Amino acid sequence: MKASEIRSTFLKFFESKGHQIVASSPVVPGDDPTLLFTNAGMNQFKDVFLGFDKRPYSRATTSQKCIRAGGKHNDLDNVGYTARHHTFFEMLGNFSFGDYFKHDAISFAWELLTEHFRLPKDKLWVTVYSEDDEAYDIWNRIVGVPAERIVRIGDNKGGRYLSDNFWMMGDTGPCGPCTEIFYDHGPDVAGGPPGSPDEDGDRYIEVWNNVFMQFNRTEDGVMHPLPKPSVDTGMGLERITAVLQHVHSNYEIDLFVALLAAAKNAVDFAAGVTDGTAGCDAASPSLKVIADHIRACSFTIVDGVIPGNEGRGYVLRRIARRAIRHGYKLGARTPFFHTLVHPLAVQMGEAYPELRQNADRIFAVLKQEEERFFQTIANGMEILDGALAALDGAGVSRLDGDTAFKLHDTYGFPVDLTADVCRERDMTVDTAGFDAAMNRQREQARAAGKFKMAAGLEYSGAPTTFHGYEHLSCETSQVVAVYVDGSSVESARAGDDAVIVLDHTPFYAESGGQVGDTGELRNGTSRVVVEDTIRIQADVFGQHGRIVEGEVRVGDRLVARVDAERRARIVRNHSATHLMHKALREVLGSHVQQKGSLVNAERTRFDFVHNAPMSDEQIRRVEALVNAEVLANAAAQSQVMGIDDAQKTGAMMLFGEKYGETVRVLSIGSTKELCGGTHVSRTGDIGLFKIVAESGVAAGVRRVEAVTGDNALAYLQGLESTVGSVAGALKAAPTELTARIGGLQEQLRALEKEVIALKGKLASSQGDELMAQAVDLNGVKVLAAVLEGADAATLRTTMDQLKNKLKTAAIVLAAVDGAKVQLAAGVTADVIGRLKAGELVNFVAQQVGGKGGGKPDLAMAGGTDASKLAGALASVQAWVGERV
Ligand code: SER
Repeated sequence: MKASEIRSTFLKFFESKGHQIVASSPVVPGDDPTLLFTNAGMNQFKDVFLGFDKRPYSRATTSQKCIRAGGKHNDLDNVGYTARHHTFFEMLGNFSFGDYFKHDAISFAWELLTEHFRLPKDKLWVTVYSEDDEAYDIWNRIVGVPAERIVRIGDNKGGRYLSDNFWMMGDTGPCGPCTEIFYDHGPDVAGGPPGSPDEDGDRYIEVWNNVFMQFNRTEDGVMHPLPKPSVDTGMGLERITAVLQHVHSNYEIDLFVALLAAAKNAVDFAAGVTDGTAGCDAASPSLKVIADHIRACSFTIVDGVIPGNEGRGYVLRRIARRAIRHGYKLGARTPFFHTLVHPLAVQMGEAYPELRQNADRIFAVLKQEEERFFQTIANGMEILDGALAALDGAGVSRLDGDTAFKLHDTYGFPVDLTADVCRERDMTVDTAGFDAAMNRQREQARAAGKFKMAAGLEYSGAPTTFHGYEHLSCETSQVVAVYVDGSSVESARAGDDAVIVLDHTPFYAESGGQVGDTGELRNGTSRVVVEDTIRIQADVFGQHGRIVEGEVRVGDRLVARVDAERRARIVRNHSATHLMHKALREVLGSHVQQKGSLVNAERTRFDFVHNAPMSDEQIRRVEALVNAEVLANAAAQSQVMGIDDAQKTGAMMLFGEKYGETVRVLSIGSTKELCGGTHVSRTGDIGLFKIVAESGVAAGVRRVEAVTGDNALAYLQGLESTVGSVAGALKAAPTELTARIGGLQEQLRALEKEVIALKGKLASSQGDELMAQAVDLNGVKVLAAVLEGADAATLRTTMDQLKNKLKTAAIVLAAVDGAKVQLAAGVTADVIGRLKAGELVNFVAQQVGGKGGGKPDLAMAGGTDASKLAGALASVQAWVGERV
């Protein structure tokens, strides 16, 4: 049975048992900033188990794309070393949301395995959580599994509920006892049954885990019973396929065969083996690593991750670099890894069309990452090899943390990559030493940052109360701190450039891409022009500006007034950014993820993950969607709530963003995002939205710039006035411009043709005149002359004509343009035994500051000193005379 048939048999079996077939969710959980990657089939149903979400079905079945690299479930280090671990795999699952429980879950699993997949019953073992007598009895009495093949496993991982047979999604969330089904690969494979000392061998392989979801674990470790006991099962497609295809390793199943062959080809090619000689060892574990990792990398990039230095981006980078290092180990010296994207799309594109649709983008993203790493890998490996050889010589088996850190910092070697190399040589890495070196560097950076940030704006008072969501002025703000030249002072005087902290302020301090407010602080005697507002600490804002009248003392009361017009422009742009983000996802796809944004009074600049330039049509659709939301004129609403509640609202969150305990959920039109910025009251306030630029900023990242409100009007008026002046110059109505310009271009092309023809004629008539100047030296006609108004092409045609007419000749023609000289030398076929055109042209060219070359019968050159041309041409006769 092929893997694809196994996948569909599974889904159809559960469909026949009343389950809804649900599509895989993305590997990047869009609405869960706590989860690095989708690591199990149940992730997309987490809220259903918890009772927060209701579905129209109470039974579901899926084939879910999963990543287990980084986070609670991490198999990265095992890939390549075992027969069954992957960073990316597909998990087949069936789920009951308060519907059936242990009895049916166990019976379904047994029926599918033994009747549909026809696995011999005596090859199947099961484990149950030691306290779960109910599951034990179902297996033993109802299903009939003999007691010797049922293993009870208790809390074997060092704490209550910490057990191989108690499954948790993460530190928090739904969890419960589980029963696992194992397949015995037979006595030829080393390893013992589950629960035995050598259970980690490859003989008894867990194929299916049935979790009886009963609790929700909260951060304090308390287990709260779920509203309804449920079922969550997971069976790795690759493992069950290995069993059904009678192979021992997952890497021998059909899904991997072609991919491994493609990996070998790619590595061999990059190692310079192109002539069909054997190349690298087809059985190398490194090829398995590469074949596994291309799947993980491609599927994460599909969902909008790009390699970076933190969060998901860093996990992607670690996986990609680990694969590249394994290719390097096999001899690859140029990028190869990205070339596996298309072979993978061929293999898996049927089941996951998103892979095909995004193949070019994935290719480009990985290629850039790979090119970058290939710049440093050779030097890094040299250092690592050297260090390991020295340690080996000294009988030490642990690489020091400083070297590992240097490899990380200077050569881009993630520490697990270094550990992987060490492991191959029976060595380890001092990870504590590595962490210490890393922390030292962070501390230094922090100290440097503090110093720079503000030249010591140390503040220890109360946080600022921000009123700027509702008000643009505060009538009696009190000055709580003043800084001049980075130092805290009691007062600042007219002329001083100061940072002023107020107890209450309407001024928004720069953050989340939105620039800081400007405006004015004043009282009866003093005035400060605020040019920016900055964050001194997360919740302490500093108004930065110039004292233009009087003085400002700590304790003074001032009226604080934001520049309302500028703020209005900023909020229009900020709100439009939310609407645009959603519209981009609608038009381009859900892989669109924010990579950066800047919102100021002029425009909004938004960077996002997408592979190709947007077409005009796509840009127009985004504009139309946003403007439709503007016209709907819906009120914007914000609500402050706990992060958990915010997550339940489905609001857009950015992974890796440090959200506090409480967050602000902002709804504008049909969008909902976590955002601390300031916004319009109604979408209609945006006025008009217009995209003005679209460009690429890095592989897989595009940038859109847009304007709103009066800026949009000014932009369109600017365009209109340009069109108006063009129309005026062409004496045509704007609607006729396209036709008129087309006509002019046509006319221009006709004229260009005519000019070329005329130049040819002119040259040939000059040629006739020049013939008379040719001098006969021993039967060879020698001619050296300037052609007025000629270009290189004319020099060549005239040369041909003169050679035809003079029959036996050596000719130099020159054209002059300012100080520049173009030269052509020609020698007829019967003379090239004695003279070479290339030598002749160089002889002349070097006198006018140039050089050139060509064939023996025709050579071209350039020069930079036209003042020497006459003398140079005059010297030709003597030069030829010496040779004929
Ligand atoms: N969530 C469980 C697992 O991942 C069963 O699907 O093993």
